[in-house]
Amino acid sequence: QAPEAVSPTGSPTGAPATARAQSGQYLTTAQGLRLGDTDHSLKAGSRGPILLQDHHLREKITHFDHERIPERVVHARGAGAHGVFRSYGTAANITRAGFLAKDVETPVFVRFSTVLGSRGSADTVRDTRGFSTKFYTDEGTYDLVGNNIPVFFIQDGIKFPDIVHAAKPHPDREIPQAQSAHDTFWDFVSLHTEAQAHTMWNMSDRGIPRSYRTMEGFGVHTFRFVNAEGRTTLVKFHWKPKQGVHSLVWEEAQIINGMDPDFHRRDLADAIEAGAFPEWELGVQTFPDTEDQMFEGIDLLDPTKFVPEELAPVQPIGVMTLNANPTNYFAETEQVAFHPGHLVPGIDVTNDPLLQVRLFSYLDTQISRLGGPNFAQIPINRPQAPVNDMLRDGMHQQAVHGGAAPYRPNSLDGGCPFLAGQDVGAFIDVPEELAASIKERKNPASFDDHFSQARLFFRSLSPVERDHVIQAYKFELGKCYEKSIRERQLAALANVDAELCAAVAKGLGLPAPEATEQVPDSDPSPALSQIGGTWPVA
Ligand code: HEM
Repeated sequence: QAPEAVSPTGSPTGAPATARAQSGQYLTTAQGLRLGDTDHSLKAGSRGPILLQDHHLREKITHFDHERIPERVVHARGAGAHGVFRSYGTAANITRAGFLAKDVETPVFVRFSTVLGSRGSADTVRDTRGFSTKFYTDEGTYDLVGNNIPVFFIQDGIKFPDIVHAAKPHPDREIPQAQSAHDTFWDFVSLHTEAQAHTMWNMSDRGIPRSYRTMEGFGVHTFRFVNAEGRTTLVKFHWKPKQGVHSLVWEEAQIINGMDPDFHRRDLADAIEAGAFPEWELGVQTFPDTEDQMFEGIDLLDPTKFVPEELAPVQPIGVMTLNANPTNYFAETEQVAFHPGHLVPGIDVTNDPLLQVRLFSYLDTQISRLGGPNFAQIPINRPQAPVNDMLRDGMHQQAVHGGAAPYRPNSLDGGCPFLAGQDVGAFIDVPEELAASIKERKNPASFDDHFSQARLFFRSLSPVERDHVIQAYKFELGKCYEKSIRERQLAALANVDAELCAAVAKGLGLPAPEATEQVPDSDPSPALSQIGGTWPVA
């Protein structure tokens, strides 16, 4: 028997699960012993020394000594909120996920984050933002762990430690790259040119959002919907803010970082407290689940590629309202554990090699960050569906499990054998024929195009937005001490767009290199000129 399903702490849908904390009339020890004095240690006489016997002093100091847990290895700086997701039912024909049926309301917890800064770092830095949503559905918890940028730096998760090592503070001085030398980041992205598209989004106004409330969110990878008949559809998830999409300009961002490093978390909490509840529409782009998993020449398994909305419109499937602030930052925003592998029947993963590595990484890191394998019992992580697992014991076990036979099937305590027909309503992995007969460390040829999407994005921008991109490259590359890194990044920009490359090169006082790949002169076809963020802009 597993712990009872309760509402997450502070959830608008139920009573706080941690009512035990600070509930009494007087101060006690952790054991409930009433205390008369918590300001003076027990000493030999009034001038000491302090006696080892002072159990209250030892408990108080020892607990304090262990108050900190490791911060997330990435996305350490975050802000959370509770809310509710209401489904329109428009996806009910392509997924059997119960929470996407018509008018179903599901409690959610959302955590927004910067990627690179440690806890306590500033909010309005140039960075990607995390946008994670936990849906507490009746069929188990579903997590959509996305970003505010629709493409990612790398195609294969085996490079994730490398890009993060390159982008985190330099190992010698531990000064974040936003304030100091930018060499390792630009070294990486100029050598691994698949990162050019994501980097271009970072250099654009999307890299400095005005507010978490005015950000889009993207699932990035292609996922798979499965309907009641077992028919599959490939989908990409989009969150569209009803507040519109807004960014800061660089000078504003710099000033705000100095004046109010908590600007984004304050803005979110203040808006919710004032009753100005932010809302996002969830939408999907849908694609036929073909054998090659390509759409209009775009490889749907390549996470450095997005699909322009003109080619595949985003179809709204529900709306999320954030309507309650956390009661306790540590209990909720810090201890929440998202995982792209938290799925429900009707939603499955694909073979995107970045997603596949994420499926391993999140549980692994959370075992160390949250002190063992039982963090699903922490109130914010508890499913609101009934839990009946065979997981036992371990660090920080909170449940008192009944029964004598924690294995299935068993013949001792009614241990539900998996009989034919009992999988109705269960999560069933989509059977998929695998084409490969060779084991190899190699990308498909379709992953070799590293520049077309950076070009598509750059050329879709207005002149003012393009100028912001040019200024951002000039500023960033101007902070690279190694000339060879600046030159290599310019060589990458030459393969994106000649005018962009020339403008950045001029700003750096360097010659503009020639492209080494074919660069079409003209803008993309009008149908491709608009991407992302075209939904209501207030
Ligand atoms: C957090 C790994 C790619 C979005 C994390 C964490 C790890 C991680 C270890 C910390 C989790 C925790 O301590 O709870 C990876 C790996 C990736 C990858 C190995 C590539 C193979 C991505 C991508 C996205 C993403 C492509 C966006 C689509 C996030 C978000 C968080 C996060 C939003 C913060 C979750 C929260 O708010 O608690 N990632 N990540 N990651 N990752 Fe990734």
